[in-house]
Amino acid sequence: MTVQRTRVLVVGSLNVDLVVQVEMHPGPGETVLGEDVRTFPGGKGANQAAAAARAGGKVCMLGRVGTDAYGQSLKDALAEVGVDTRQLLEQPGPTGMAFITVDASGQNMIVVSSGANRHLSPEDVTPELFDGVGIVLMQLENPLETVQRVAELAEQIGVPVMLNAAPGRPLDDALLKRLSYLVVNESEAALLSGQVVSDIAGAQVAAGLLRARGTANVVVTLGGQGVVWEGTGSRGQLPAHQVTVVDTTAAGDAFCGALAVRLAEGAELEEAVRFANAAGALATTSEGAQPSLPLRNDIEALMSL
Ligand code: RIB
Repeated sequence: MTVQRTRVLVVGSLNVDLVVQVEMHPGPGETVLGEDVRTFPGGKGANQAAAAARAGGKVCMLGRVGTDAYGQSLKDALAEVGVDTRQLLEQPGPTGMAFITVDASGQNMIVVSSGANRHLSPEDVTPELFDGVGIVLMQLENPLETVQRVAELAEQIGVPVMLNAAPGRPLDDALLKRLSYLVVNESEAALLSGQVVSDIAGAQVAAGLLRARGTANVVVTLGGQGVVWEGTGSRGQLPAHQVTVVDTTAAGDAFCGALAVRLAEGAELEEAVRFANAAGALATTSEGAQPSLPLRNDIEALMSL
């Protein structure tokens, strides 16, 4: 009997997001007044798991929350959108927390206090997690040893890995070679490739350099300038959808979750990027991380315009 590998396994972070709307972000040493604090479920891992579930995927997640009240509420938020939360572990102490300011143009600035996320360890990664999994999706808000362990085990088992290398940090070629897909924004692409990335042409050069470092398929997102990809079967670029931007928080997460779902369903990279590009755009049109993640119908509706 052939085992269907269609599930998306997300290994990543869960944060509670404390969000303040400001006219302009403060500079160093500056104080600005903002609106009332709003609280949303967030964390790049949890957002990507929720994004994949809302985009129609079967999703399970490995991560750690703390033993404070936030931990349970983050698990509940994921369960509500259909993510299998049985592999979410508890860590005595605080849950991860993100302090976010969003300015009048919708651009955000984020500081993360990792809390329980920094305790997700290589020992938490077991072969059973990969049962029925068609793709693994990770980010960089957990210890790098854990990300490396997942990539190593996934390679042994034969499951493709997608890494959203956010927040940006240097990575060695051994890890990049184990990835089937690398998704980066401008600053992450620049950090990993050594190439200035401020437009489509720079992103294309960076994608080529990152492929030369070992990753088979590289996708560079450029916010309002669109997206560039270069892979084993195709290369190309797409403009961003024209939408009214309210809050860019989790737009990249919506992109990654949606991309993983279509790839797990067997779509070609170009088709998956088209779907993800629409998901990312829709996520900018409302406030907050997880509440802004689009449903499949809405993604497909935007694609068909
Ligand atoms: O990508 C957006 C996320 O980054 C926020 O939800 C915040 O928690 C940080 O992890």
